[in-house]
Amino acid sequence: MADVFDKLLSSSAPSFMETGFRPFYQALSARDGEARVRCERVVMAACNDYLGLSGDPRVTGAAARATERYGASCSGSRALCGTLPLHEELEARLAAFLGCEAAIVTTTGFQANLALAPLFGRGDLVFSDMANHASLMDAIRLGWAGKRPYRHSDMAGLERQLVTADPDAGKVIVTDGLFSMEGDLCRLPEISALARRHGARVVVDGAHDIGLLGAHGRGVAEHFGVPDAVDLYTGTFSKCFGSIGGLLAGPAHIIGYLRYTARPLLFSASMTPASVAAALAALDIVEAEPERRTRVLDLAGRLDSGLRALGFDTGSARAVVTPIIPVYIGGAELCARMWEEVLAEGVFTSAVVAPGVPVGRELIRLTLQATHTDEHLAHILGAFAAAGRRLGVIPAVAVGRAATAGPQRDRDAMPVHVR
Ligand SMILES: Cc1ncc(COP(=O)(O)O)c(C=O)c1O
Repeated sequence: MADVFDKLLSSSAPSFMETGFRPFYQALSARDGEARVRCERVVMAACNDYLGLSGDPRVTGAAARATERYGASCSGSRALCGTLPLHEELEARLAAFLGCEAAIVTTTGFQANLALAPLFGRGDLVFSDMANHASLMDAIRLGWAGKRPYRHSDMAGLERQLVTADPDAGKVIVTDGLFSMEGDLCRLPEISALARRHGARVVVDGAHDIGLLGAHGRGVAEHFGVPDAVDLYTGTFSKCFGSIGGLLAGPAHIIGYLRYTARPLLFSASMTPASVAAALAALDIVEAEPERRTRVLDLAGRLDSGLRALGFDTGSARAVVTPIIPVYIGGAELCARMWEEVLAEGVFTSAVVAPGVPVGRELIRLTLQATHTDEHLAHILGAFAAAGRRLGVIPAVAVGRAATAGPQRDRDAMPVHVR
């Protein structure tokens, strides 16, 4: 008789854990673009706090005051005892910020996406980019609608699916705004045009782009100048807002419907007072300090061109380089070794293997923060050059001008070494 625990142990998933490399579940403490890992000080290049707000005293102060006033937890779901005036204030502010009729907040961004499930009804069709976040995929699984996945950003593929779909079916196109692993933007103007032509609704997960993109930080729609392209947003406070929590924003009747049907709202405890207060304080900063967006995007452009000049593959050239920079390595074990070597050079990154990316597309994911300094940037480039050459991932000699002319790692500036 099969034992479910034994079956898990003999599956292929843990084999990666036996390589001796340990890129996952590392205990660390991070702040302002640096971290302590294995007791050493390193550059943090794996954190999604793009605007550098999680340690901002205005954000941490708001969280501390809310904890003092309301306690550490609401200990109940939004529907029952878990709604503070603070939750309502955040929802009103978000709706105004995103130009939507209404918004509702959830305990995590993952839950915000799961809360979409009631929209995917029997007989409907969901068209979903294959690189969408796992939580969107799970929401689609939880719903009853037919699944129509299309290859990443393949607009011709999406159109083919729409053209051949039952014209009477309710249709919804679901996409990440800024893709979390590839670092590229969804092709929102084209998605919107296709949606209009075929009577589909557009749902955008703005987890990575709300707060970051567009003159006011309203995300991809603002970036592309298509404010009406999105019918419903989801998002998170765990990235640009330096807190934790999720959001849905859109027409009042849809948000109202989800309040009473979305199980993550009905059956899970609400965002903590501290998280809500931190998100509100971060929203003030997102609105008041656009220079944080400019700074992190500038850093990203410089890092991307420096890595390319060294010979790394950071994906096809993107019109907008975002603070998520993928460095394609290929092969889970080589990826883990590269992660380890880069850490030995004093930079903490994310190793991304299946199921985060398809097999063969394993990558080191670099993320930047507005609080990174030019010295941090130079250190990251120096670490990648040294590690990449040691492992043969890049040629021994730089392939482009930027690498030779670009910043070199200054060992004295960041005296770190991790083994
Ligand atoms: C695109 C996307 N959506 C949703 C989420 C989930 O957000 P949270 O961390 O708030 O649960 C993430 C987080 O990694 C994400 O990258």
